[in-house]
Amino acid sequence: MRLDRFLTETKVGSRSEVKKFIKKGQVTVNGQVEKNIGAQIDENNAQVEFQGEKLHYEKFVYYLLHKPQGVVSATKDAQKTVLDLLLEKDQRGDIFPVGRLDKDTEGLLLLTNDGKLAHDLLSPKKHVEKEYFAKINGLVTEETIAFFAGGMTLKEDENISPSQLKIVAVDQKVQTSEILLIIHEGKFHQVKRMFHKVGMEVTYLKRVRMGTLTLGQLAQGQYRVLSEKEMEPLKNN
Ligand code: URA
Repeated sequence: MRLDRFLTETKVGSRSEVKKFIKKGQVTVNGQVEKNIGAQIDENNAQVEFQGEKLHYEKFVYYLLHKPQGVVSATKDAQKTVLDLLLEKDQRGDIFPVGRLDKDTEGLLLLTNDGKLAHDLLSPKKHVEKEYFAKINGLVTEETIAFFAGGMTLKEDENISPSQLKIVAVDQKVQTSEILLIIHEGKFHQVKRMFHKVGMEVTYLKRVRMGTLTLGQLAQGQYRVLSEKEMEPLKNN
């Protein structure tokens, strides 16, 4: 790994800042001052110090983001992406969102550079629960709950396993509902298409939980680092 990248990934500073630090001789590699910003180092074994302090390389990072509406779940796009919400100190070129939320969906999104974990969490075999709060145009009834509980087919071969639908509130006058829905897959526009199947429209959608992770009090656009302890149940799923 290049020395300048190592320093940005260990949060010493932004790309431009770390270049200055290196050129000023404030960085040592295995006890020797290294002024070459592109010097190749072994990130797992090199002893790198900045202003005399040893740096510890973090292989994987995990952030829990409260994605706001209007931001796309991509790494590169002409529009604002979820990665643009990371502070400069946390930007590191290899982070990506685990799955996608639609542009108009808000809520819990995991950002990481751990490809294996992302793959595992998205695998239909792992059945990681995703829970959504939604506002619906239409009256959700016990019948809707029973239909969702029986599983459904969206397209010819798109089988949706039984899902758990709960009514939070209904407004008979204007024929709208608020619900919580737990699904086990992460298919394209899944929640919207499930309600479409029963002739209803999702007008607001928010993911509130993924497996053991919940949004909690995290404000829109904010994110926090997940601890090893919080990651454990996801890794051992
Ligand atoms: N289902 C949807 O329809 N959209 C999302 O963003 C997530 C789940």
